[in-house]
Amino acid sequence: MQKNIRCFVFPASLALALLAAGCAVEPAAEKAPSEDSAAADPLEYPKWETVAPEENAGYNQRANLVQRGHLVYLKYCVGCHGEYGDGKGPAAARLITQPRDFTSGIYKFRSTDSGSLPLEADLHRTISRGLARVSMPAFPLMPESEKIAVIEYIKTFYPRWEEQKDDRLIVPVPAAPSDLDDEDRILRGRVVYLLQQCSACHGTDGRGTGATQTEYVDAWGDPQRAFDFTRGSLKGGNTPQDVYRTFHTGLRSIMPSFGGDTLAAVTADVFDTSTARLEAGEVETLRSVLDHFPADGNVLYSQMSAGERLELAERNSWDLVAYILSLRTETTTAAAVLGPTVLHADPPSASPSSG
Ligand code: HEC
Ligand code: HEC
Repeated sequence: MQKNIRCFVFPASLALALLAAGCAVEPAAEKAPSEDSAAADPLEYPKWETVAPEENAGYNQRANLVQRGHLVYLKYCVGCHGEYGDGKGPAAARLITQPRDFTSGIYKFRSTDSGSLPLEADLHRTISRGLARVSMPAFPLMPESEKIAVIEYIKTFYPRWEEQKDDRLIVPVPAAPSDLDDEDRILRGRVVYLLQQCSACHGTDGRGTGATQTEYVDAWGDPQRAFDFTRGSLKGGNTPQDVYRTFHTGLRSIMPSFGGDTLAAVTADVFDTSTARLEAGEVETLRSVLDHFPADGNVLYSQMSAGERLELAERNSWDLVAYILSLRTETTTAAAVLGPTVLHADPPSASPSSG
């Protein structure tokens, strides 16, 4: 009786389900696929076990993805990020920079403005590349389907994701100019760096010397250090566009975002006060590029159009990127770019389904 009901309820089920329910009518179908599926990789269970494909297909696909993502998470992430996604996995106690608490919806490495959730593509980048200088490993060899699934899963830790996702404001990152090693650009970048007060946290030399702020607590209450531009890899990535993105989006609560025309506000009149602590020789060198900047705030705000200011902010941004990249002294090895650990997906031989 029970069997008959099942056959009736799921007329569209595959031969597999019919066989399992013991109501196969065609002996020819005796290839026993059920045996294969019992031994299959847990990540590859049949898709439509409980519901026919036509029924609420979108919802079911998402549920399926989230469920797969949960398995990926349990395999690779739970040790640090914790069962509840709160960053309190068993390994967290031994880490200085704590694993991200996904329940807060706050992320550092985004291509969205500082009040927004990240894009899925940002999470994908973090997972694929890892985060340099901290324990977050890179998973470059994780199959694409698993990355997509685990991204869907970690989103579920933040209950307001669906509600807020349409409010995300993307910070555009244009193509990088080709002359980032131009001497004048780098000098101008140094002026932008000093006058925009990056030096307050990163030091006058980009490695912390003379920084007025030296201790930080991030949005989750954990200690952080301002990045030393002369060493190591950047968490948000090492390409010119990555660096541009990082200071345009900011790093939520520890580093402000320098978006819109903020970076246009570099004017010659404040040069002397901002460079008072530099050596006289350097001040003279920097003075040689001062005429590239507006004389004062009056010129900037009353004589320039909004469009001109944005253009200037854009130029200043790339000058800043040029300067920051010019400070790098260590060769950036592939391992350094990928982060401290590179975790590989299981080799095919370890997978039960290949046997
Ligand atoms: C060995 C510990 C460890 C493991 C394993 C680990 N993470 Fe992380 N993860 C971290 C740490 C630490 C941070 C925070 C880094 C920081 O704030 O600079 C982090 C941050 C993140 C972030 C947030 C980045 C941002 O923009 O703020 C994401 C997303 C992330 N991890 C995803 C994952 C996923 C998915 C997995 C499993 C596939 C995983 N992590 C495995 C330690 C780990
Ligand atoms: C209020 C302090 C503060 C100011 C001001 C500041 N930063 Fe930062 N910055 C930090 C801290 C702290 C970090 C390290 C964050 C981390 O490792 O998670 C950082 C990291 C960075 C990184 C590296 C991020 C990565 O991917 O690892 C870049 C690039 C950067 N800052 C650029 C700038 C620029 C350019 C300016 C000025 C326009 C600036 N910062 C101003 C505090 C500051």
